[in-house]
Amino acid sequence: MSNQDKDGLMGWIDARLPVTRTIEKHVTKYYAPKNFNFFYVFGVLAMLVFVNQIVTGIWLTMKYVPSAEEAFRSVEYIMRDVEWGWLIRYMHSTGASMFFVVIYLHMFRALLYGSYQKPRELVWIFGMLLYLLLMAEAFMGYVLPWGQMSYWGAQVIISLFGAVPVIGEPLVEWIRGDYLISGATLNRFFALHVIALPLVLALLVFLHIVALHEVGSNNPDGIDIKKDLDENGVPRDGIPFHPYYTIGKDLVGVIIFLMVFCGIIFFFPTAGGFFLETANFEPADPLTTPENIHPVWYFGAFYSILRAMDFDLFFIEAKLLGVLTMGAAIAILFVLPWLDRSPVRSWRYKGMISRVSIVVFAVAFSILTWLGIQPVTTLNTILAQICTAIYFAFFLGMPFYTRYEKTKPVPERVTNR
Ligand code: HEM
Repeated sequence: MSNQDKDGLMGWIDARLPVTRTIEKHVTKYYAPKNFNFFYVFGVLAMLVFVNQIVTGIWLTMKYVPSAEEAFRSVEYIMRDVEWGWLIRYMHSTGASMFFVVIYLHMFRALLYGSYQKPRELVWIFGMLLYLLLMAEAFMGYVLPWGQMSYWGAQVIISLFGAVPVIGEPLVEWIRGDYLISGATLNRFFALHVIALPLVLALLVFLHIVALHEVGSNNPDGIDIKKDLDENGVPRDGIPFHPYYTIGKDLVGVIIFLMVFCGIIFFFPTAGGFFLETANFEPADPLTTPENIHPVWYFGAFYSILRAMDFDLFFIEAKLLGVLTMGAAIAILFVLPWLDRSPVRSWRYKGMISRVSIVVFAVAFSILTWLGIQPVTTLNTILAQICTAIYFAFFLGMPFYTRYEKTKPVPERVTNR
């Protein structure tokens, strides 16, 4: 019996809207590889955090006042006087950092198992667009409480656009909407943060999942499970996403995640100055610069790459060189699917150079993240330069070492079935 022939309300709806068909295609009859491991929980967790940000954001918006005069005070009001306001705000601020923890692990998983490789290039590109937009979303959100770090962070980041030749200064003015960071800047960031970017993010999440389900999920072995079908056309190494992965894995991941999340919110909401920076507990003061201006930890790696370029190169000034290098560091991630020429996907079967490179890259990226929030010293800058070189060597060398290294034979069926 097709869904259209069913009786009752569901039959009536299905004849007009493909509800059952969509649920089957994407949930109950979506055959996911049997060998998913813990790394495969972070996509669902990213969705969970996204919903958390939207819901808590709506409630924050009810009391927050987007003006240079009122913003800081209104956040203090939410924290002290609004009933449960502190909880909503900590859920949102902790959610922002946890979003990036989850996303970095989600991206690292893709790197380990070659999930960006053919035919999942679009899944990766939509992912990268999500990452880029998330950074913009987080940056603008951070400006809204109008604390010292909000103000000076915005000042540093927006002034980077001034490095663009010829149109630099007018561009900076256009972004700020004023001759300096002011209420006008705050207003536009508020509009973009609460409605424009979340809308685009939601659309991108939708496209990300649709693109993934069109080609099917990868797995830790990087094996194409669609190549081995049973008599019903179902992959022998696949199991229905629901109930096996929803109840069997994702729910467990969600519970563990929520325990960590609540632990931070209730016992450690500032995370020692990492999630909510100490300088941001003071109202924005355009006349007093904080001692060490730095972005929140999740921008650390790219900020370090920017600062590592403290020298002029030929006719390119240091500031522009930094901006270009930082831009290149993000841009190169977009073309990752075309840099990896390996005949195998997963690092389990790649050669030694790939395996070592991934580890070295992950360490270099972590060091860059840490350096991003440290003050500038000669030693820190040298370290940042070395790690920046490793960052680019990893990607630029990839077409060569993935092509010529000796890979291991990939098994016929997934392991750990
Ligand atoms: C709001 C942000 C994001 C959400 C909600 C999200 C959600 C998801 C979900 C639910 C899945 C399927 C489950 C899983 O494999 O974990 C997935 C898969 C995937 N995502 Fe994301 N994602 C986001 C950002 C990103 C980013 C930033 C990247 C990389 C740049 C990325 C790359 C991928 C890839 C390559 C897959 C396929 C993995 C595989 O089949 O092995 N995603 N994503």
